[in-house]
Amino acid sequence: MIYLDWNATAPLRPAARSAWLAAQDTSWGNPSSVHGIGQRARAAIDGAKTAMARLLGCRGYELVLTSGGSEANALAIHAALSLDPQRNSIVASAIEHSSVLRNASARGALTVVGVDPVGRIDPAALAAACGPATALVCFQYANNEIGTLQEIPALIAAVRAVAPAALILLDAAQGAGKRPLHLGALGVDFASIAGHKFGAPLGAGLLYARTGLKVPPLIHGGRQQQDRRSGTEDVAGAVALAAALGDALHDSAQSEERCRNLLDSCFSTIAAELPEAAWIARAAPRLGHTLSLAHPGIDQTALVQRLDLAGIAVSTGAACMAARGEPSHVLRALGIASELARGAIRVSIGHQTTTSELDAFAAAYVREVRLMLR
Ligand SMILES: Cc1ncc(COP(=O)(O)O)c(C=O)c1O
Repeated sequence: MIYLDWNATAPLRPAARSAWLAAQDTSWGNPSSVHGIGQRARAAIDGAKTAMARLLGCRGYELVLTSGGSEANALAIHAALSLDPQRNSIVASAIEHSSVLRNASARGALTVVGVDPVGRIDPAALAAACGPATALVCFQYANNEIGTLQEIPALIAAVRAVAPAALILLDAAQGAGKRPLHLGALGVDFASIAGHKFGAPLGAGLLYARTGLKVPPLIHGGRQQQDRRSGTEDVAGAVALAAALGDALHDSAQSEERCRNLLDSCFSTIAAELPEAAWIARAAPRLGHTLSLAHPGIDQTALVQRLDLAGIAVSTGAACMAARGEPSHVLRALGIASELARGAIRVSIGHQTTTSELDAFAAAYVREVRLMLR
């Protein structure tokens, strides 16, 4: 099987696998236990947090272990809305992940800010949406469907100028591990990280909450993690998360450049055969690992199934939405004509992807699209 769906989840990195196995063998205790076996587990968690803090430019106690990006987003939204009952509204861009949009609208009054045709948020539009009741402003580092990067410092400055009391959540699920992030210097209040996007095991993520912020728990219980998230910590998951992050960042710049070149040449091959093929949001500053590829007159779900039968795994968009067959809110927000959006698939790659895999994909894509257009 050729796996071209890395934005859904990335294969486990060998460094993360061996760190996980070693931690299961040596640090399997309950980190809250007073005895030595527990304290060994506690030391493993503390070591993992310290290592991740160094990699992310923050402090160890600013990191809360979560089950992934969705929980981190939910916890930040919950925390921001708990601070002041007068401030109960949330501003978010139209292309946020469903875990931001759905948690926000379930918990507060949500104002959605549109994006331009390549998915960029206008700082002035973001600022205009903020008001005295704004508790939290949410935007992402990079989009999971089209890869568009936001101009984070300009967005932060715009929000701080008009709403100094509002908190800022950066959903970095598609940025962490792919680009170096210095969360402390960036100046956001919260950031969400999903380890499985960069080769950590599924179920290991982080919420960064800057020093001084109160984070009341969504999960009550044994008051683990400074009473910000109860539940016995996943020690091996945390250790593997730290190993994956270090490994991913080690050569992230070269890896991204290589991915960018691979996708550029893959698209050129396809476009030479199918002149109506379109690369959505290609003109945006974007992560080099993502190609949002569309063709009019095609049913995206049928195409993904045909490619799957041909041994190639791609996606119609966000994995959670693809499973439900819902149209992409991201492509709608970009103003992509529905005829083209219906024919869009996401190709997302990573450091293990090879030229011959993408050659095989390009050939299969051209073949299947031609058959479907007959
Ligand atoms: C931008 C973005 N935010 C949040 C999430 C949710 O992360 P998780 O699947 O770890 O809950 C994802 C996952 O697809 C994502 O791409």
